[in-house]
Amino acid sequence: MKIVEKARIKDVAQMHQLVNSFADKGEMLARPLSELYENIRDYFVVRDGERVIACGALHVSWSDLAEIKSVAVAEDNQDKGVGARLVEACLGEARELGIPTVFCLTYKPAFFERFGFSQVDKMELPRKVWTECYRCPKFPNCDEVALICHLELGD
Ligand SMILES: CC(C)(COP(=O)(O)OP(=O)(O)OC[C@H]1O[C@@H](n2cnc3c(N)ncnc32)[C@H](O)[C@@H]1OP(=O)(O)O)[C@@H](O)C(=O)NCCC(=O)NCCS
Repeated sequence: MKIVEKARIKDVAQMHQLVNSFADKGEMLARPLSELYENIRDYFVVRDGERVIACGALHVSWSDLAEIKSVAVAEDNQDKGVGARLVEACLGEARELGIPTVFCLTYKPAFFERFGFSQVDKMELPRKVWTECYRCPKFPNCDEVALICHLELGD
Protein backbone atom coordinates (compact mmCIF):
# COMPACT_ATOMS: atom_id res chain seq x y z
CA MET A 1 0.00 0.00 0.00
CA LYS A 2 1.37 3.43 -0.94
CA ILE A 3 1.87 5.66 2.06
CA VAL A 4 0.70 9.18 2.80
CA GLU A 5 3.67 11.52 3.35
CA LYS A 6 4.22 15.22 3.88
CA ALA A 7 4.76 17.03 0.58
CA ARG A 8 8.18 18.33 -0.43
CA ILE A 9 9.06 21.27 -2.65
CA LYS A 10 9.91 18.99 -5.56
CA ASP A 11 6.32 17.64 -5.51
CA VAL A 12 4.70 21.03 -6.14
CA ALA A 13 4.81 21.05 -9.96
CA GLN A 14 3.04 17.66 -10.06
CA MET A 15 0.55 18.69 -7.33
CA HIS A 16 -0.26 21.79 -9.39
CA GLN A 17 -0.80 19.74 -12.52
CA LEU A 18 -2.97 17.20 -10.67
CA VAL A 19 -5.23 19.75 -8.93
CA ASN A 20 -5.61 21.93 -11.98
CA SER A 21 -6.41 18.98 -14.27
CA PHE A 22 -9.54 18.42 -12.14
CA ALA A 23 -10.18 22.16 -11.85
CA ASP A 24 -10.22 22.39 -15.66
CA LYS A 25 -13.09 19.88 -15.60
CA GLY A 26 -14.95 21.90 -12.95
CA GLU A 27 -14.47 19.23 -10.24
CA MET A 28 -12.52 21.41 -7.81
CA LEU A 29 -11.05 24.88 -7.48
CA ALA A 30 -7.80 25.73 -9.25
CA ARG A 31 -4.75 26.57 -7.12
CA PRO A 32 -1.97 28.83 -8.40
CA LEU A 33 1.59 27.61 -8.07
CA SER A 34 2.35 30.46 -5.65
CA GLU A 35 -0.34 29.25 -3.26
CA LEU A 36 0.99 25.69 -3.32
CA TYR A 37 4.53 26.86 -2.55
CA GLU A 38 3.40 29.20 0.22
CA ASN A 39 1.30 26.47 1.84
CA ILE A 40 3.55 23.49 1.12
CA ARG A 41 3.63 22.54 4.82
CA ASP A 42 -0.15 22.01 4.72
CA TYR A 43 0.07 19.33 2.05
CA PHE A 44 0.23 15.56 2.10
CA VAL A 45 1.05 13.52 -0.99
CA VAL A 46 0.97 9.90 -2.05
CA ARG A 47 3.79 8.92 -4.39
CA ASP A 48 4.37 6.04 -6.76
CA GLY A 49 8.12 6.23 -7.20
CA GLU A 50 8.84 9.77 -8.41
CA ARG A 51 5.24 10.32 -9.48
CA VAL A 52 2.78 12.19 -7.24
CA ILE A 53 -0.49 10.27 -7.59
CA ALA A 54 -2.49 12.19 -4.99
CA CYS A 55 -2.45 15.22 -2.75
CA GLY A 56 -4.54 16.92 -0.09
CA ALA A 57 -4.06 19.57 2.58
CA LEU A 58 -5.04 20.60 6.08
CA HIS A 59 -4.99 24.37 6.51
CA VAL A 60 -5.39 25.87 9.98
CA SER A 61 -7.97 28.69 10.01
CA TRP A 62 -8.21 29.54 13.70
CA SER A 63 -7.72 28.14 17.22
CA ASP A 64 -10.62 25.72 16.84
CA LEU A 65 -10.99 25.34 13.08
CA ALA A 66 -9.09 23.88 10.13
CA GLU A 67 -9.95 23.21 6.49
CA ILE A 68 -9.29 20.18 4.31
CA LYS A 69 -8.60 21.33 0.78
CA SER A 70 -7.35 20.23 -2.61
CA VAL A 71 -7.92 16.48 -2.18
CA ALA A 72 -7.11 15.00 -5.58
CA VAL A 73 -6.28 11.47 -6.70
CA ALA A 74 -5.02 10.77 -10.24
CA GLU A 75 -7.73 9.05 -12.27
CA ASP A 76 -5.73 5.86 -12.75
CA ASN A 77 -5.35 5.52 -8.97
CA GLN A 78 -8.91 6.27 -7.87
CA ASP A 79 -11.15 3.77 -6.07
CA LYS A 80 -8.20 2.20 -4.25
CA GLY A 81 -8.63 3.96 -0.90
CA VAL A 82 -6.01 6.64 -1.58
CA GLY A 83 -8.41 9.59 -1.15
CA ALA A 84 -9.70 8.06 2.09
CA ARG A 85 -6.16 7.76 3.47
CA LEU A 86 -5.45 11.41 2.61
CA VAL A 87 -8.58 12.59 4.43
CA GLU A 88 -7.69 10.40 7.44
CA ALA A 89 -4.16 11.89 7.47
CA CYS A 90 -5.61 15.41 7.50
CA LEU A 91 -8.07 14.54 10.28
CA GLY A 92 -5.26 12.87 12.22
CA GLU A 93 -3.12 16.00 11.99
CA ALA A 94 -6.04 18.13 13.18
CA ARG A 95 -6.43 15.82 16.20
CA GLU A 96 -2.69 16.00 16.94
CA LEU A 97 -2.85 19.80 16.79
CA GLY A 98 -5.87 19.80 19.13
CA ILE A 99 -8.25 21.34 16.59
CA PRO A 100 -11.82 20.16 17.24
CA THR A 101 -13.57 21.14 14.01
CA VAL A 102 -12.58 20.58 10.41
CA PHE A 103 -14.53 21.89 7.43
CA CYS A 104 -14.33 21.58 3.67
CA LEU A 105 -15.91 23.19 0.63
CA THR A 106 -16.45 20.68 -2.14
CA TYR A 107 -18.46 19.48 -5.11
CA LYS A 108 -18.24 15.91 -3.73
CA PRO A 109 -20.11 16.07 -0.40
CA ALA A 110 -20.95 12.35 -0.39
CA PHE A 111 -17.23 11.47 -0.36
CA PHE A 112 -16.63 13.54 2.78
CA GLU A 113 -19.79 12.36 4.55
CA ARG A 114 -18.19 8.93 4.80
CA PHE A 115 -15.66 10.39 7.28
CA GLY A 116 -18.20 11.97 9.63
CA PHE A 117 -18.62 15.28 7.82
CA SER A 118 -22.12 16.72 7.63
CA GLN A 119 -23.48 19.48 5.44
CA VAL A 120 -23.92 22.97 6.86
CA ASP A 121 -25.06 26.29 5.47
CA LYS A 122 -21.94 28.08 4.21
CA MET A 123 -23.04 31.14 6.14
CA GLU A 124 -22.52 29.17 9.39
CA LEU A 125 -18.77 29.11 8.75
CA PRO A 126 -16.88 31.86 10.56
CA ARG A 127 -16.12 35.00 8.60
CA LYS A 128 -12.39 34.25 8.90
CA VAL A 129 -12.69 31.48 6.29
CA TRP A 130 -14.00 33.88 3.65
CA THR A 131 -10.70 35.75 3.29
CA GLU A 132 -9.58 33.21 0.68
CA CYS A 133 -12.94 33.34 -1.09
CA TYR A 134 -12.42 36.94 -2.15
CA ARG A 135 -9.67 35.68 -4.47
CA CYS A 136 -11.86 32.96 -5.99
CA PRO A 137 -13.08 33.61 -9.56
CA LYS A 138 -16.53 32.34 -8.55
CA PHE A 139 -16.93 34.78 -5.63
CA PRO A 140 -19.60 35.65 -4.53
CA ASN A 141 -21.50 32.93 -6.44
CA CYS A 142 -19.96 29.96 -4.64
CA ASP A 143 -21.54 26.68 -5.72
CA GLU A 144 -19.50 24.40 -3.46
CA VAL A 145 -21.10 22.55 -0.55
CA ALA A 146 -19.81 23.24 2.98
CA LEU A 147 -19.36 20.34 5.40
CA ILE A 148 -17.97 20.17 8.91
CA CYS A 149 -16.63 17.33 11.03
CA HIS A 150 -16.36 17.46 14.83
CA LEU A 151 -13.39 15.49 16.15
CA GLU A 152 -13.01 13.62 19.42
CA LEU A 153 -9.88 15.06 21.01
CA GLY A 154 -7.77 13.52 23.74
CA ASP A 155 -6.20 15.69 26.45
C1 LIG B 1 -13.07 12.34 -4.74
C2 LIG B 1 -11.72 11.62 -4.78
C3 LIG B 1 -10.71 12.43 -3.96
C4 LIG B 1 -11.90 10.23 -4.16
O1 LIG B 1 -10.61 9.60 -4.11
P1 LIG B 1 -10.46 8.02 -4.25
O2 LIG B 1 -9.06 7.65 -3.94
O3 LIG B 1 -11.03 7.57 -5.55
O4 LIG B 1 -11.45 7.54 -3.10
P2 LIG B 1 -11.31 6.22 -2.22
O5 LIG B 1 -10.95 5.06 -3.10
O6 LIG B 1 -10.43 6.48 -1.06
O7 LIG B 1 -12.80 6.06 -1.74
C5 LIG B 1 -13.15 5.93 -0.38
C6 LIG B 1 -14.62 5.67 -0.33
O8 LIG B 1 -15.32 6.81 -0.83
C7 LIG B 1 -16.15 6.44 -1.91
N1 LIG B 1 -16.13 7.52 -2.89
C8 LIG B 1 -15.13 7.85 -3.74
N2 LIG B 1 -15.47 8.92 -4.47
C9 LIG B 1 -16.72 9.28 -4.07
C10 LIG B 1 -17.62 10.30 -4.45
N3 LIG B 1 -17.33 11.20 -5.41
N4 LIG B 1 -18.83 10.34 -3.84
C11 LIG B 1 -19.15 9.46 -2.87
N5 LIG B 1 -18.34 8.45 -2.45
C12 LIG B 1 -17.14 8.37 -3.06
C13 LIG B 1 -15.55 5.16 -2.45
O9 LIG B 1 -16.55 4.37 -3.09
C14 LIG B 1 -15.04 4.49 -1.20
O10 LIG B 1 -16.08 3.80 -0.54
P3 LIG B 1 -15.82 2.38 0.20
O11 LIG B 1 -14.89 2.70 1.34
O12 LIG B 1 -17.17 1.96 0.62
O13 LIG B 1 -15.18 1.51 -0.83
C15 LIG B 1 -11.22 11.41 -6.24
O14 LIG B 1 -12.27 10.84 -6.99
C16 LIG B 1 -10.76 12.68 -6.92
O15 LIG B 1 -9.59 13.07 -6.81
N6 LIG B 1 -11.67 13.34 -7.66
C17 LIG B 1 -11.32 14.55 -8.41
C18 LIG B 1 -11.02 15.71 -7.48
C19 LIG B 1 -12.15 15.96 -6.50
O16 LIG B 1 -13.31 15.98 -6.84
N7 LIG B 1 -11.80 16.14 -5.21
C20 LIG B 1 -12.81 16.30 -4.16
C21 LIG B 1 -12.36 17.18 -3.08
S1 LIG B 1 -12.32 18.90 -3.56
